[in-house]
Amino acid sequence: MKAPSRPPATLRFFATAPKGLEPIAVEELRTLGAANVREQRGGAAFEGPLAAGYRACLWLRSANRVLMPLSRFEAPDDASLYAGIKRMPWEKDLSTDGTLAVDFTGTAAGITHTQYGAQRVKDAVVDRFRERVGRRPSVDRERPDILINCHLHRNVATVSLDLSGDSLHMRGYRTRGVAAPLKENLAAALLLKCNWPEIARQGGTFVDPLCGSGTLLIEAALIAGDTAPGLWRDHWGFSGWLRHDAAQWEALFKEAHQRKNTAQASMPVILGFDHDPQAVEAARNNIQAIGLGNHIQLQKVALQSNRLPPRLRPGLALTNPPYGERLGEADKLGPLYMTLGNWFKNQCLGWQAGVITSDPQLGKQLGIRARKLNSFYNGALECKLLQFSVEPQWFMGNRTAAQSQ
Ligand SMILES: C[S@@+](CC[C@H](N)C(=O)[O-])C[C@H]1O[C@@H](n2cnc3c(N)ncnc32)[C@H](O)[C@@H]1O
Repeated sequence: MKAPSRPPATLRFFATAPKGLEPIAVEELRTLGAANVREQRGGAAFEGPLAAGYRACLWLRSANRVLMPLSRFEAPDDASLYAGIKRMPWEKDLSTDGTLAVDFTGTAAGITHTQYGAQRVKDAVVDRFRERVGRRPSVDRERPDILINCHLHRNVATVSLDLSGDSLHMRGYRTRGVAAPLKENLAAALLLKCNWPEIARQGGTFVDPLCGSGTLLIEAALIAGDTAPGLWRDHWGFSGWLRHDAAQWEALFKEAHQRKNTAQASMPVILGFDHDPQAVEAARNNIQAIGLGNHIQLQKVALQSNRLPPRLRPGLALTNPPYGERLGEADKLGPLYMTLGNWFKNQCLGWQAGVITSDPQLGKQLGIRARKLNSFYNGALECKLLQFSVEPQWFMGNRTAAQSQ
């Protein structure tokens, strides 16, 4: 077999993003300097040298995965999929003694289960090795040297290397969760949507009064601290890839560390509250795991008695109250939303605010008219992000509600 070759100078990539968040991934990629960024179903396509793919893995906050397409071919059935995969020069990417895993999506004639599709892809790769050198790579589902992503749509197979390995929402800080945590990439995307980077640049405060395990607090601190969300991950889809350029990766990693150290020297105030001691404890553990203990203040306090410290700079209050479907009981949520609306009016006058809810009707209980409403998915659950300016002209009904907290 030939020695591993360098990848071409310009490569195509695809960052997958949760439904509804594709435009945010597009915006992030443009900010990262990626070329030819285009929104597509399920994510964003972009181009650049290998370093652009590495940079996306390290820095993208909203995405799930970064794929590097290797081949696209007609695959109307099982046999043509197998043959197409077997034709690909896998020895450039994987050593005979290496390991692989396959993620498969889609269907074709004879392939009605994704598990079967994944197995056919794996068979084709290992059969190529076996026929050429008499030995074959093995399967490792946990930490393979390469993770092959095969997507079959309208009889066309797109075969990619998954550079991210594990989903990018797994930042490596979640030590313990609470009952209904927000996914890390979703939390980051909602902060970007609420203009937090700009508010933070101006020294505005961030508050989550129902912080649970602290996902919004941590992602807010990572954004304000110009900190790459991938800095704590210790495994990537390219870690065991034969064409991995370790020098490029090291340079990007070092640059990210320097940016973090510079930006974390002056951080805005970030405050989190929850009435559940276990949630506060989980948040504290997560915050410490990612070295943000000095930048985020936590307190166990119920919303009803939460008074913010005086003289905070106005900023962003973004929160994710319990969902009726998953935590507590839906009929208890109306009063909680009313309390939250009054809390915004009393404690956050002049701030921007955001509420993540599965039920926009509940949003009306806040008593503030939303400026913007966006839909997205938290797992399978369709949610809305309601965005507010906490200004009297947006308050609904009587003004005395604001004084009744
Ligand atoms: C859906 S969870 C928030 C999850 C969080 N975004 C995360 O990623 O972990 C809602 C949180 O609101 C808290 N909560 C509910 N009612 C509260 C109240 N009246 N005062 C303070 N916290 C409250 C719950 O304890 C729970 O941790």
